[in-house]
Amino acid sequence: GKYRVVSTKPMPGARWINLLIEQDFRVEICTQRKTILSVEDILALIGDKCDGVIGQLTEEWGETLFSALSRAGGKAFSNMAVGYNNVDVSAANKYGVAVGNTPGVLTETTAELAAALSLAAARRVVEADEFMRAGLYDGWLPHLFVGNLLKGQTVGVIGAGRIGSAYARMMVEGFKMNLIYYDLYQATRLEKFVTAYSEFLKANGEQPVIWKRASTMDEVLREADVISLHPVLDKTTYHLVNKQTLSMMKKEAILINCSRGPVIDEAALVEHLKANPMFRVGLDVFEDEPRMKPGLADMKNAIVVPHIASASKWTREGMATLAALNVLGKIKGYPVWHDPNKVEPFINEKARPPS
Ligand code: GLV
Ligand code: GLV
Repeated sequence: GKYRVVSTKPMPGARWINLLIEQDFRVEICTQRKTILSVEDILALIGDKCDGVIGQLTEEWGETLFSALSRAGGKAFSNMAVGYNNVDVSAANKYGVAVGNTPGVLTETTAELAAALSLAAARRVVEADEFMRAGLYDGWLPHLFVGNLLKGQTVGVIGAGRIGSAYARMMVEGFKMNLIYYDLYQATRLEKFVTAYSEFLKANGEQPVIWKRASTMDEVLREADVISLHPVLDKTTYHLVNKQTLSMMKKEAILINCSRGPVIDEAALVEHLKANPMFRVGLDVFEDEPRMKPGLADMKNAIVVPHIASASKWTREGMATLAALNVLGKIKGYPVWHDPNKVEPFINEKARPPS
């Protein structure tokens, strides 16, 4: 192959590899056993000649790596993730490296996990499973593992981009919840859905959705029974959930996080879970990932899963394919692909393959 592309991890499916090979690329996949590669590990992978890299959200892509990639002749980097808080985009710009991410293909998968955690928390599925396996079940009782009925409760969505909107749609349509949401930027996609869905319900003689777009985040925190976090992690959303904002939430609220760990002050959350046994939380991400803050693992009112929100076969293969296309397209100079549905101010540019 004429071009050398490195992937810092083996990725699902063969499509991404085939796409690159067909276009004259030599693909090198790092097979190191350790889960999280260090900057030194990645420098060694980049070597003297490298046209592009596909990397992972566990890696810190900053000055050191982008300058090395640029010296090796590299033009493109793609995260295999939609989030890119691990990437210093201004450093990439400085060294002339284009940065891509993988939005779109993980929207529904991620929203489904947020919904799964919401239901599991509301109906205490994990606690009940543990109880059963521990041999503690000795007969049906009227008050055994009584949880919340979501129908008629209010779901609160913080960050109504692609994923937050898909989650809101699932909870409103699937479970007949009322909706309140807050979004700093564009929120038209969710507004369009809920307006159209309400019209549909009315036309069928049913009650329209009770919903509103909140003008402050606090309104959502105060009014929602289930709160799901879907913002981008940046300076403005770091520790968005903290001691003070937790105290605004209902004592029996459910909090879901499938975005990024540092959006929650996790130590404050542990204290809140201890003080409020009826408060429940479902977490896919952690502040010091892969570690949990002390005490969290002991909380019965917490459900914790290891950053698996985008983990469906279709989505992971799609993410790998998109990451490969980002790198391939940029190196080959194919036209930039503008996604009309994108919500976040996009990183820098994105390419599509020839049709
Ligand atoms: C996963 O967390 C992603 O950002 O894609
Ligand atoms: C519960 O199992 C019921 O039949 O109501």
